[in-house]
Amino acid sequence: MTPRLLVRDLAQVATPAGAAAPLRGAALGAVDVLEHAFVLCGGETIEAVGRMRDLPPLDGEVAELDGRGLCAVPGLVDCHTHAAFGGDRVDEFSRRASGAGYEELHAAGGGILATVRATRAAGEDGLRAAVERHAAWMRREGTTTFEAKSGYGLDRDTELASLRAIRAAGGIPTWLGAHAVPPEFADADAYLDFALAEVLPEAARLAEAADVFLERGAFDAAQARRYLEACRAAGLALRLHGDQFSERGAVPLALELAARSVDHLEATGDAGVRALAASDVVGVLLPASALFLGRPMPPARALVDAGAAVALATDFNPGSAFCESLPLACSLAATQLRLSPAEALAACTVNAAHVLGRAGRLGRLAPGYRADLTLLDAPDWRYLAYHLGGRVVAGTIVGGELP
Ligand code: NIG
Ligand code: FE
Repeated sequence: MTPRLLVRDLAQVATPAGAAAPLRGAALGAVDVLEHAFVLCGGETIEAVGRMRDLPPLDGEVAELDGRGLCAVPGLVDCHTHAAFGGDRVDEFSRRASGAGYEELHAAGGGILATVRATRAAGEDGLRAAVERHAAWMRREGTTTFEAKSGYGLDRDTELASLRAIRAAGGIPTWLGAHAVPPEFADADAYLDFALAEVLPEAARLAEAADVFLERGAFDAAQARRYLEACRAAGLALRLHGDQFSERGAVPLALELAARSVDHLEATGDAGVRALAASDVVGVLLPASALFLGRPMPPARALVDAGAAVALATDFNPGSAFCESLPLACSLAATQLRLSPAEALAACTVNAAHVLGRAGRLGRLAPGYRADLTLLDAPDWRYLAYHLGGRVVAGTIVGGELP
C-alpha cells in the first residue's frame, strides 16, 4: 500500500474548477488557485487539498514533501502521441529545414513510410525500449498519463507489438491502423481489407480507441468511415486525424460517428468550427506539430469562443512533431493559439482526460481524484505557459508516489 504523502507549503495549488467534463466556454478558463497550500495524498487517491492554515492534525504515519518555491497542478495528460516508433527522421528534418515539403517527402515513400521501415526493423524488444525511453522523456516534462498510437507497423505483428509496448510502458493504446498505405498493398482499400480482417480482432483487445489519418495521400472519407465503423463495432472508441492539410470531411464524419475527438484542425474553416462547437466531439489542438511543419495554427480561439470543447496535446512523433513537452504546448497555446494559461491548463488536464475516457479520475486536484501531481519550479502556476522552453517542471507524483 502506498503510504500517505503530504505535499506541504506549496506556493500555489492550481486546478480547473468544478467537476464537469469536458469544459467549454467560460468554464474552460476557470482555475481555482490556493496560495500557500497543501495536497494530501491518501495512497493512490487525493484525500484533501487546502490552505496550510486549514491543515488538520494528521494521525499516523505521513511522509512529507517540502513544496516551498513550487506550484502544483494536476498531472498533465497527453491525449495524442505517436510514441511507438523505431529510428528517427533527423535527415528528413534537415532537408525540410532547407525547403523540402512534408507531403512531398511522404508521396516519395519517405515520411511516415520511412518510420514504418525503421519500426518493423526494431523488433518487439527494440520497440519496447523505444516506448519506455519516450515515456521517460514525457514524464520528465510533467506528463503523468499518456496516450500513444500504433500506426508505424502497418503489418499484423508490428501493429500488435506496438500496442503491447505502449501498454507495457504504462500508456493508453490507440490502434492507428489507418495511418498510411504500406508499400505491399496496391491501394488503400486492399490494405483496409487486410487490416480489418487480420489485425482488428486482436487490436480491439489491446487498444481502447481507433484512429485514422483522413487526408489526401492517406485515407479518404469513405475509407475512414469503413475503418471507423468496423472499429466501433469491435468496441473501440473513435478518434480522427482530420483537417491537417485540407478539409476532406473529417469533422462531419466525426460528428456522425460520435467520435471522441478530431485532432489537428489546422485547415478547419468557419463551418467546421461551428459544427464542432455544437457537438460533443473534442477538438484536439496540436500546436507543436503546426510549428514543426511551418503550417498555419488551428483556429483555437474561434473554437473556444464558439463553445467547442478543446484539448491540447503534443502529437509527439518523429516526423511532424519531435516534441514531448506539454509545457511547451501550453506556451504555444498562449503565444500562438490565443488561449489563456488557464484555458491551456484545462485543455491538457481535464479535457485531455475526457478524450481518454478518464475525466472522473484524472485531470483535477480534488478529493477522490487520482493522486497525480505535476510540480512546477515557479512562484506562480502560470509559468507552465509563461516559461517558454524553460525547465519549469520540478517533478511529478504519480498515484501518490514519488518516482
Ligand atoms: O499526427 N498526420 C499524421 N500523422 C502524424 C505524423 C506522422 C509522421 O510524420 O510520422 C501527425 O502529424
Ligand atoms: Fe498525430
